[in-house]
Amino acid sequence: MNLVYDAIVIGAGAAGLFAALTAGRRGRRILVIEHSRQPGAKILISGGGRANFTNRRVSAANFLSANAHFAKSALARFTPDDFLSLAKQHHIRYHEKTVGQLFCDTSARQILEMLLAECSSGQVEIRTGCKVESVGRETGFAVETSLGRLEARSLVVATGGLSIPKLGATDLGYRLARQFGLKVVDPYPALVPFVFGDADRKRWSDLAGISTSVRANCGDAAFDEKMLFTHKGVSGPAMLQVSSYWRKGQAVNVDLMPGRSFEPPPQEARRALTFALPQRLAERWLAVEGFDQPLLPVRRVDARLHEWSFVPAGTEGFEKAEVTGGGVSTADLSSKTMEARNVPGLHFVGEVVDVTGWLGGYNLHWAWASAHAAGEAI
Ligand code: FDA
Repeated sequence: MNLVYDAIVIGAGAAGLFAALTAGRRGRRILVIEHSRQPGAKILISGGGRANFTNRRVSAANFLSANAHFAKSALARFTPDDFLSLAKQHHIRYHEKTVGQLFCDTSARQILEMLLAECSSGQVEIRTGCKVESVGRETGFAVETSLGRLEARSLVVATGGLSIPKLGATDLGYRLARQFGLKVVDPYPALVPFVFGDADRKRWSDLAGISTSVRANCGDAAFDEKMLFTHKGVSGPAMLQVSSYWRKGQAVNVDLMPGRSFEPPPQEARRALTFALPQRLAERWLAVEGFDQPLLPVRRVDARLHEWSFVPAGTEGFEKAEVTGGGVSTADLSSKTMEARNVPGLHFVGEVVDVTGWLGGYNLHWAWASAHAAGEAI
């Protein structure tokens, strides 16, 4: 083999570019290949165009994975401060929105430009419009592509998950994992809006656009955030967060008055509820719950407000999911280098791995940290 490159990185998203720039800075010769024309397409739309690029408080507790400890090593070796010091070198101004969540002041494009500038100073080559046809392993890795055969000592798979197919998502990463004998935890849409069944849709969906603060939980996971009614079901940060934990058939429990009690005098209760919740929601909720008497039974109303629950018919799927849960099994990867335990030189980084972050900058931080771990090892 003619091993011109130390590593080929498949996928020019957050993780692929970060792995490439980390290895490039260490003097490694790196080629990034990307099948679409635009590198970092997801970075550009992340955080509503301002990229929630990290979170001040990142720990393994903010991630779902079959191995709850797997992310610890990479997160400890690449912290939010490490990313911030790079952002500061590139004069990227940022602000904290919801507690801990850091966003660009101006545009997510600045993050992409920073990554591309760092790649360029590390002499990283990036080829877009490059389709992978097959990957083989000899002394190194041989990647047959629409631009010809490419060879390298190491291969970094950074192809992301299945979310938002129109932005270039494919299952190549999972196929490569299986080809080389790694297991894949079934991918599923995560951070995704719920869809109601017919009965709940009739009850609630004309409230589309109304949002309220709730505590939502599914199993052991609970989040205090906003819930938003949509035409199809419910969304908003609280629902997106619990969706990552939800499995078909499970109920989602919603406390409509988290941390508060509803205890007005009975003759004022009806009016009081329309101040405590958005008015249309309060009126609809009373009707759905069958509280049609003029004097409300306040203690029962209070109890019911804390225990609203529904069983979603499903979610809006990969088309709308912010991330993909599941992925390449952490049991088959080194947590220090993201290298396959049984295939030296083969690394998986970012969302393709079975590590899925909460909403709030955690997924991009995982992309940086896992890519940094691989980039330091190549
Ligand atoms: P990513 O998907 O970014 O990159 C994979 C790359 O591989 C893509 O460029 C793709 O085209 C390429 N590829 C795929 N198949 C290929 C093939 N067969 N051949 C060659 N190339 C291939 N997270 C966060 O922390 N803060 C936020 O604000 C947001 N906001 C947000 C908004 C929206 C709308 C979405 C959809 C997602 C977010 N996220 C987020 C999630 C975050 O964007 C995501 O987790 C990371 O971008 C994942 O980075 P990766 O590099 O792993 O995958």
